[in-house]
Amino acid sequence: MMFRLAHLSDPHLGPLPNPTLLELASKRAIGYLNWQRNRASKFTSEYLDGLVADLKAQEPDHIALTGDLVNIAIDAELGPARRWLDKLGPAHDVSVAPGNHDAYVPGALRRASEAWAPYMRGDDDHIPGAYPYVRRRDDVALVGVSSARASAPFFATGHVSTEQAKLLCQKLKALGRDGVFRVVMIHHPPVRGSTDWYKRLIAGSRVRAAILQGGAELVLHGHTHIDSLHWLKGPVGPVPVVGVPAASNAPGGKKPGARYNLFKIERAGNDWRCYWRERGFQKPGEGIVEIRERDLSAEMLAAAE
Ligand SMILES: [Fe+2]
Ligand SMILES: [Fe+2]
Repeated sequence: MMFRLAHLSDPHLGPLPNPTLLELASKRAIGYLNWQRNRASKFTSEYLDGLVADLKAQEPDHIALTGDLVNIAIDAELGPARRWLDKLGPAHDVSVAPGNHDAYVPGALRRASEAWAPYMRGDDDHIPGAYPYVRRRDDVALVGVSSARASAPFFATGHVSTEQAKLLCQKLKALGRDGVFRVVMIHHPPVRGSTDWYKRLIAGSRVRAAILQGGAELVLHGHTHIDSLHWLKGPVGPVPVVGVPAASNAPGGKKPGARYNLFKIERAGNDWRCYWRERGFQKPGEGIVEIRERDLSAEMLAAAE
């Protein structure tokens, strides 16, 4: 078996439609001004379109998208985001974990989960918005966790309930008994100190405990808009935690340009091999380049020492 999994995150799809006055009467007013000031110029579909075209040319078996599809989660953003998802790929082959911008104000996550339902539910679930959800594709299990919750103005924190963390642990254990390659998708990095305090995952220890007890082969996240590799403790060894830059970010700024990850997962005896490639925009005026290629299994052995 060889499975190719693509990972992208944080497209922050633009342009931002005009919110209604009622919609602006909330945290969204700040988000709207923030978009006008920062994102409108840096987050352009030019890079996103190029990135998606390059990703599709790689013909991955599955695409994991770790949240922040939209900006302030107004109704006028949800429909276009759904159409963008439909163009990205069939719901069978695209799995989404929601981000804090998809849950910008109370009630937003429920509407987003309905609008994007086919991309955010497990093989056996018929209720959108039930997390964690599990999808099995060949020998790979995609586990969608929601860390998205409306937060106070100037905060971008994430949250996973004790109930969800408990279910996550149970499902990871069961999948472990089936011997599949477990991929956990979560918007906020479940790693202590990996983000600023105002945008951290609150009670991230719950997620770390679920992974330590339940086990996972790979954790994918977004939110930080930078490329990163951290390790979490697993039941048998270290678990790689991989972050990816925002999928529509222009190159040449403070944060890395638009990028995606491509994982090649294959069985090796009783174990797994996982190779990781990063492709994206590095310099203004240049096309997409191969940025890095790594043998994640070898790095895992090194991290275990
Ligand atoms: Fe984001
Ligand atoms: Fe985020």
